[in-house]
Amino acid sequence: MNKWIGAAFAMSMVVACGPTELPRSAAPEEEPVTWVIESSLSEPPIFIIAHRGASGERPEHTMEAYRLAIVQGADFIEPDLVMTKDGVLIARHDRFLSTTTDVADRPEFADRKKRKWVNGLPKDDWWAEDFTLAEIKTLWARQPRPARGTHYDDQFRIPTFAEVIALAKEAGVGIYPETKAPSAHLEQGLDMEAALLAALRKARWDGAGAPVYVQSFEPEILQSLNEKIELPLVQLLYGVPGLHGERPNIPLSDVTTYADGVGVQKTLVVNKAGKATDFVSAAHGAGLFVHVWTVRDDEPAPDGVPVEEELERLYALGIDGVFADYPATAVATRDAVLIP
Ligand code: G3P
Ligand code: CA
Repeated sequence: MNKWIGAAFAMSMVVACGPTELPRSAAPEEEPVTWVIESSLSEPPIFIIAHRGASGERPEHTMEAYRLAIVQGADFIEPDLVMTKDGVLIARHDRFLSTTTDVADRPEFADRKKRKWVNGLPKDDWWAEDFTLAEIKTLWARQPRPARGTHYDDQFRIPTFAEVIALAKEAGVGIYPETKAPSAHLEQGLDMEAALLAALRKARWDGAGAPVYVQSFEPEILQSLNEKIELPLVQLLYGVPGLHGERPNIPLSDVTTYADGVGVQKTLVVNKAGKATDFVSAAHGAGLFVHVWTVRDDEPAPDGVPVEEELERLYALGIDGVFADYPATAVATRDAVLIP
């Protein structure tokens, strides 16, 4: 574990994207900034984490989605990770491919459709672990949320984790990889932890100070990584029914034994009626930073407030970061709140 490696890094970055080099929105190197709101744990930056890239505006987990997020001022780009048959980490939210690619329209892969089980339920689909990387690279990415339109469908390929790291290094932003279903991958004979460590070591982004936060819903992989690396580890939490509203699915007292922070479902921080809970102060009191998922311009908060108000409310509660599908909105709202 290693707390707060990212703060100084985030303050001094300049974004370079392709041939164009753009200043970050707050331009911290040029003038001193007085931060009006500071959480109890973090240095000023409330991290804006581009959720699956700028996934509101480009098909998620494509280089184009990540590039747009970087141009918009995100501090971190978030690749969710799954694995191919030949053991390569690729950026996808799910092991199954039908919702985010054209695989179902590809006759050469028709016989690859298989029934597998996800969370105890059967699912007939095409699975990343049944495709080589070379085959994956023939697929086109698609936007999975129908309301967002299909303008950019079938234009972009699926990136590897190594390609995402290279982009982040070139641009001067951090990465926030999520290991998706490591135990299910192990059942398929694929060791996600080993692949993650190898990729980070190859990029020399495996040591303390690297701008890398590693997240998972599965505590076991984080517990194991905690013995091996000094990077910040993030336990993802969701709400389950409790005596007094929602409570986290894993007690914070357990999380503190192996992780540095939590990535938390937003209704644990502000409940569905729009009322703040004591989650942030409890997590900070336990020594954990709080990154909240997921804020979307095109999906109202549960109590119906506009996205800017939803973000301002979260920032005012002292959160340390937010996962956003539209990083531009999260950056602009943060800067409006924090920069006098
Ligand atoms: O990783 C934080 C958040 O992204 C968790 O939800 O399902 O979008 O990966 P998901
Ligand atoms: Ca994620």
